[in-house]
Amino acid sequence: MTGTTSTSTTVATEVVLPGVVEPNGLQVRTRPLPAPATGQVVLRMDATGVSFAEQQMRRGKYYDQPPFPFVPGYDVVGTVTATGPGVDPALTGRRFAAVTKTGSWASHLLIEAADLVPVPDGVAADAAETVVVNGITAWQMLHRLAAVRPGGTVVVLGANGGVGSTLVQLARHAGITVIGTASARHHDAVRVLGATPVDYRDPDMYARIRRLAPQGVDAVFDHVGGPGLVQSWQLLRRGGTLVSYGTAATKDETGNSRLPVLKVFARLLLWNYLPNGRSAHFFNIWAGRRRPATFRRRLSEDLTQVLRLLADGVLTPQIAARIPLADAAAALELAESRTVTGKVVIVPGE
Ligand SMILES: NC(=O)c1ccc[n+]([C@@H]2O[C@H](COP(=O)([O-])OP(=O)(O)OC[C@H]3O[C@@H](n4cnc5c(N)ncnc54)[C@H](OP(=O)(O)O)[C@@H]3O)[C@@H](O)[C@H]2O)c1
Repeated sequence: MTGTTSTSTTVATEVVLPGVVEPNGLQVRTRPLPAPATGQVVLRMDATGVSFAEQQMRRGKYYDQPPFPFVPGYDVVGTVTATGPGVDPALTGRRFAAVTKTGSWASHLLIEAADLVPVPDGVAADAAETVVVNGITAWQMLHRLAAVRPGGTVVVLGANGGVGSTLVQLARHAGITVIGTASARHHDAVRVLGATPVDYRDPDMYARIRRLAPQGVDAVFDHVGGPGLVQSWQLLRRGGTLVSYGTAATKDETGNSRLPVLKVFARLLLWNYLPNGRSAHFFNIWAGRRRPATFRRRLSEDLTQVLRLLADGVLTPQIAARIPLADAAAALELAESRTVTGKVVIVPGE
């Protein structure tokens, strides 16, 4: 993979999602990158990773994915190798993190300098990668949306996942008791994170949670959707908050990719009108982006806090595997195998 200076051309290796394919249908290509435009930098990827979004995108099931073909990759940690006009050249050589939604499965990418968030010295790129989209999502849901207080109790569905494992750790650090759902194979890992595990394959799961928290819980974080969403809602105590943030249950359904999310929106809206003192929200990391300055400031503040907790050893990075970019298909397959705890990280390779 070729490096660059401001005066030479960068040849980027990119992984392309050509259409609805199995993971082994991903393609690898190289192309010269245009010089960075005003406000842009060239970022050399040091780590990226597999998010649930790519599992949905390869099925054409992500809510607002671009038309095929495109380069997937939701977030990245990398080093600036060239700067465009209007960007401080002193950024060159420094390491940053960014959320891109697509485009990060590449050896190099063009990115707006305004979207870069510094990574503290001493934090390895693969460790930082585990908390970029996962850390922002977890932090904002816990502290901005649900605003759960120390001493509270929450339920985290999918506590072994990328977002889930980060959310458990942030909540425990904030003095919150966590009940985490996961398949039995992940219960030891979930316990180590500090949560009480319950098996999501157990038909009595919700009854079990109720026995663990008979007064009801302060928040439920539900990325599964589907019929179980009603039961998540019913776990809340008065004043509690349901945070819905995905529809994993409908990943394999055929049909319109927006419909499952729209159904959830309608349901949450209705629940908010019920006079029962609970509230229901859909979290979307991209909400508010129409006011870019505020959006970027908030994202940067939140990611900086999470990266600081990582640097201080409060958060333990959950790296499921490190796989070279050229083997992105294997990375996606592993992430989809339902056997991992944490994040499958993609690294540059040879
Ligand atoms: N709204 C937003 O802005 C936003 C931002 C980021 C992420 N998200 C959502 O957050 C969720 C987690 O993302 P991630 O990247 O952390 O994914 P991940 O690392 O792949 O973890 C997924 C988790 O969900 C569980 N899971 C997968 N399919 C499931 C199903 N059909 N029923 C029940 N549980 C299931 C997995 O359990 P097993 O390991 O047992 O399969 C795992 O615990 C996704 O739904 C994603 O769309 C939303």
